[in-house]
Amino acid sequence: MSKIRWCVIGAGGIADRRTIPAILENKESTLVAVMDRVQNVAETVGKKYGVPYFTTEEEMLKKIDCDAVYIGTPVTCHFDQAQTALAFGKHVFVEKPIAFNAKAGAELVQAFKKAGKQLTVGYMMKYHNLHEKAKFLIKNGEIGQVNSVRAQFTCWYPDIPNAWRQKKSLGGGGAIMDLGVHCIELLEYLLDDEIESVKAFYSTRTFSYEVEDGGVIVFKTRSGVLGHIDVNFNIPDLASESKLELYGSKGYIICKGTLGQEETGTLAHLYAPQGDYNAQQSREMSEPCVYQGEKGNLYEKQIDDFCQLIANGKTDYFYADRAVQVQEIVDKIYNEKGE
Ligand SMILES: NC(=O)c1ccc[n+]([C@@H]2O[C@H](COP(=O)([O-])OP(=O)(O)OC[C@H]3O[C@@H](n4cnc5c(N)ncnc54)[C@H](O)[C@@H]3O)[C@@H](O)[C@H]2O)c1
Repeated sequence: MSKIRWCVIGAGGIADRRTIPAILENKESTLVAVMDRVQNVAETVGKKYGVPYFTTEEEMLKKIDCDAVYIGTPVTCHFDQAQTALAFGKHVFVEKPIAFNAKAGAELVQAFKKAGKQLTVGYMMKYHNLHEKAKFLIKNGEIGQVNSVRAQFTCWYPDIPNAWRQKKSLGGGGAIMDLGVHCIELLEYLLDDEIESVKAFYSTRTFSYEVEDGGVIVFKTRSGVLGHIDVNFNIPDLASESKLELYGSKGYIICKGTLGQEETGTLAHLYAPQGDYNAQQSREMSEPCVYQGEKGNLYEKQIDDFCQLIANGKTDYFYADRAVQVQEIVDKIYNEKGE
């Protein structure tokens, strides 16, 4: 089979750091062109990878034959650029969050379904081996009925002049829109459940930008799991454990250092079913089983999945639909103004 030819829109950020290297590692893929609105970024990245470069997506897609388009631009660009790529008949891998709001996301997914083209959204954390392990343990009853979950995800993000993430009109929100979406998506994946009710508080305390630099989300899933998500731009990277905690009626799963861009960290699993009520409340500590991140590449795994679908002439919209549900939750949070 001939290789999947990729064009990239928004070549400078995560595209250059993670996705283009993942495309180049993939045996089924080849990079054929890059585009960035900023001329010197387009040129630098194009020359780095030895491919033609452009400053408009239309010119690139007119001149270059490709099968798939990766979009790694600020959130506000996702909808229009994905629609443009679709109008050129391409499959699309768009970065998270899918779009500025759920309505735009839903319209996008609908358009791809109608055209029979694949739409994948860059939620790569479910590819972490320890998150797959957690899902497997939960499914097999290894912590019993999951009752309480928590995700803590942070990224130190100080005031930076003209940073799109720090402007509501470009990023759509702050820590919740940028980091919270990963946690919502991952928890729904692990629990195989959907968040039904949500409340949140957020504020801007440490920095002076207009979006929130911290947020707390409290939720209940359809099956009744209770959870909360803490996301912060205002905690130093070294001061955060980046923790995912899943507590059930028979034990726990605690992941440390697994929320992020690398397949690192640990998963501790404790199976500790209990019969009688312990009125004394004396607790003997038990040792959990500990597993390690396998230090693979989350982005390569996600590109591989995308390529497998295309190579087999298939489409799968399950996670694109879920990416829209994630935005519904975020819309609800921002519409309720939990400031
Ligand atoms: N999945 C992940 O691990 C991950 C990590 C970081 C960012 N992201 C997502 O990737 C997207 C980009 O984030 P980033 O951190 O790379 O941002 P960035 O600002 O570092 O990079 C974005 C690039 O897009 C270019 N650009 C801006 N507007 C453009 C336009 N209209 N057309 C073409 N190019 C344009 C910029 O010049 C820049 O080179 C966001 O949606 C973000 O949420 C995902």
